[in-house]
Amino acid sequence: MTAPDTTAAGDDPFEAFNRSAGMGIVENPYPMFALMRAQHAIKREELDTAITADTELNFNDMGEDLGNVFTAYSFDAVQQVLKDGDTFSSAGYEEVMGSVMGHTILEMDEPEHHTYRGLVQQAFSRKAMDVWETGVVRGVVDEHIDAFVDRGHADLVRELTFPFPVLVIARLLGLPRDDLPMFHRLAVEMISAGFDFERAKIASQQLYEFFCGIIADRRAHPSDDVISVLAQAELDGTRLTDDEICAFLRLLLPAGAETTYRSSSNLLVGLLTHPEQLDALRADRALMSAAIEEGLRWEPPLLGIMRTATRATDVVGVAVPAGSVVAVSIGSANHDERYWENAEEFDLFREPKQHLAFAWGPHMCLGLHLARMETRVLLTQLFDRLPNLRLDPDADTPQITGMVFRAPPALPVVWDRN
Ligand code: HEM
Repeated sequence: MTAPDTTAAGDDPFEAFNRSAGMGIVENPYPMFALMRAQHAIKREELDTAITADTELNFNDMGEDLGNVFTAYSFDAVQQVLKDGDTFSSAGYEEVMGSVMGHTILEMDEPEHHTYRGLVQQAFSRKAMDVWETGVVRGVVDEHIDAFVDRGHADLVRELTFPFPVLVIARLLGLPRDDLPMFHRLAVEMISAGFDFERAKIASQQLYEFFCGIIADRRAHPSDDVISVLAQAELDGTRLTDDEICAFLRLLLPAGAETTYRSSSNLLVGLLTHPEQLDALRADRALMSAAIEEGLRWEPPLLGIMRTATRATDVVGVAVPAGSVVAVSIGSANHDERYWENAEEFDLFREPKQHLAFAWGPHMCLGLHLARMETRVLLTQLFDRLPNLRLDPDADTPQITGMVFRAPPALPVVWDRN
C-alpha cells in the first residue's frame, strides 16, 4: 500500500503552504512574551508598536478606527477574557475571516453560538471518536508511514504531519477518494489566506460548491459520515442549513487540520530534541497523555486569538473600555512562570496543569478529543513501526518558527531498518 497522492498534477501543497506561511521569520517569541508578562498582565498597545503589526493577526486590516487595543499576557488575564463570552465578543472575526470562510461558529456570540455548537458537536461525540480511531485515523497514519518505512529516513513534516490531518478530515467527511487531491489543494489555498487573499477566496468558493453537491447527496442518501450527521442534526426543532454546514466544513480545515499538523510536529520536536524523554515515553506509553499535553503547553500551534470588549470592564484590575480589541496571547499564558516552573523547558514529567492551547470558555476547541486522539495514534504508530526513531544526525536541528502559527518547516529523522 502506498500513501494517497495528495498533490494535484505538478503541485506540491506543502511547498505552496510553506511559502505562503512565511515559515522561518521569527524563531522564538517567548523571550519577548516573558518581558511583556513581567511588566503587564494585560497591556494597552501603542498601535505602531503592537506585537501583532507584522503578523497574520494584523489589526490594521480591521478597519480605520481601531480604538483601544490590548494584549493579555498572563495566564489569569487570558483565562478571564476567554471565560466571559458575554463581555468579550468573538464577532470581530467576521471582518478578519468572514469573507473567506463564511459565517462560522468562531465569530458567533450567545445565544446563536450555543444553539449552533449544540448542533455541530453531535458529529464529534465520544462514540464517534472510538470508531474514527480504528476506522479512519490509524489507516490514514499507516498509509503515510507505509510510503517511507523501508527507506530508513524521512522528513516527518512533509511526509506525515502536514498531509495526514487533512486526509483524516476528508475521510471523516466521507469525501470521494478521487476528489482528495483537489480537496487537499483547495484546503491549502484556503488556509493560505494571509499570503494570497484573492486565491484563498476563490478556493473557498470552490470548496463551497464542492460541499454543496455532497450535502445534497447526503440529504438524499444519509450515511454515517460527519456531513450526514450534520445534515440530520436537530436541536429543539432547529436544523442546520446548507450554508451553515458549508461554513463549518470549511472551518475544519484551518481549525482542525492546520492546528493538528502544527501541534503534532511541535511535540515531535520536543521529544526528538529530548531523547531521554523520548525513550521514557517509548518505554512507558502510559506517559502518552502527559507528553501530548506538555507539547500543547510548551509550543501551542496557535499563539494568539482575539476578542472585543462589549462593555467597559476590567481584566485582572486593568480598565478595558467598551469596544477595545483584546489580543489574547495563548503562547504567553502557557509560559506564565506563576503557573509553571521552568516554563520555557519541554518536560513531560512536570506536574499536570490546565494549559490554554485549546482556549477556554464557550469557544474552547470543539475538536480537542479528536486532536488528542490523532496525536496519540500518530506517536504510537511511529514508535511501533520506526524502531529507534531519532533526529537525522546529518541534518540541521529542527527549529519551530512563526509568530502566530508555529511549527518546524522540516523534521528530518532516521530509524533502524529491520
Ligand atoms: C492541537 C490541535 C488544536 C488546537 C491547538 C486547537 C485550538 C483551538 C482554539 C485555540 C480554539 C478557539 C479559537 C477562538 O475562540 O478564537 C479552537 C476552536 C475550535 N476548534 Fe480547535 N484546535 C485544535 C484541533 C481541532 C480539531 C482537530 C478540530 C476539528 C476537526 C477543531 C475544531 C475547532 C472548532 C470547530 C472550533 C470553534 C469552536 C467554537 O467557536 O465554539 N480543532 N481550537
